[in-house]
Amino acid sequence: MGDRLKGKVALISGAASGIGAAQAILFAREGAKVVIGDLQETMAADVAAKIAAAGGEAHVLRLDVTHADSWAAAVKATVSRFGRLTTLVNNAGIFHPGGVEGETLEGWNKMVAINQTGPFLGMKIAIPELLKSGNAAIVNISSLYGLFGSPNAISYHASKGAVRVMGRAAALEFAKRGIRVNTIFPGQIKTPILGDITPEQDAAIKASIPMGTVGDPFDIAHGALFLASDEAKYITGAELVIDGGWYAGA
Ligand SMILES: NC(=O)c1ccc[n+]([C@@H]2O[C@H](COP(=O)([O-])OP(=O)(O)OC[C@H]3O[C@@H](n4cnc5c(N)ncnc54)[C@H](O)[C@@H]3O)[C@@H](O)[C@H]2O)c1
Repeated sequence: MGDRLKGKVALISGAASGIGAAQAILFAREGAKVVIGDLQETMAADVAAKIAAAGGEAHVLRLDVTHADSWAAAVKATVSRFGRLTTLVNNAGIFHPGGVEGETLEGWNKMVAINQTGPFLGMKIAIPELLKSGNAAIVNISSLYGLFGSPNAISYHASKGAVRVMGRAAALEFAKRGIRVNTIFPGQIKTPILGDITPEQDAAIKASIPMGTVGDPFDIAHGALFLASDEAKYITGAELVIDGGWYAGA
């Protein structure tokens, strides 16, 4: 066990799977008490069991990031279990394809509710407890698709672009009040979010990545660990791209 997050209490949305699960495991390994908030409760419990087996402490709760009441209950449960909240990771997200012609209003609204309204509500409802802690950090997970366009993912681009600017705005709002807000932009990371892709699609993705491979969820978790830790105490409003070099050539 390390101590880079000793004394921290982190609420991580979407931590039952992929990048969120890696963050929960790594944060706990570095001494944080971790709250795993997700809709997938069985998978969340598996992540908590892994953390406990490694000597860490984790609490599982059902969180729907689209509902203010759900966030309020999650923050309350975190404080009641671990005494405070120092760290919020807005990680939960979904993806589906669809350009302006193909996307439906229903698809758009769902994407925006989870990927954009979710982080807004998370920040808004966690802020009072984060302010109390006096030395807090928010890490928002955007996407390379929040930095550039592509032809077939209009609502994902919109929601992730919003997360980028929301992070900058919130960083300024809380710069003098003890809450740092930073954003991570993952490239292509091996998780279930993309669903089934064909070998041809897989080859095309790898061909667009200068390092030639997709990333591992822990590649993102290590960035989040740094931004959540006091090692990053002078960093706010920052944008960390973790993508095998993809954005360098975009
Ligand atoms: N994997 C990638 O290539 C990639 C690239 C760029 C950005 N991202 C972003 O990283 C984040 C994590 O994605 P991932 O790749 O680990 O995917 P994932 O599908 O493995 O995990 C996403 C998690 O979010 C949860 N979730 C979905 N809707 C929710 C809701 N309403 N309330 C609470 N939890 C909810 C899911 O249950 C799931 O556990 C997302 O924001 C995603 O957009 C991923």
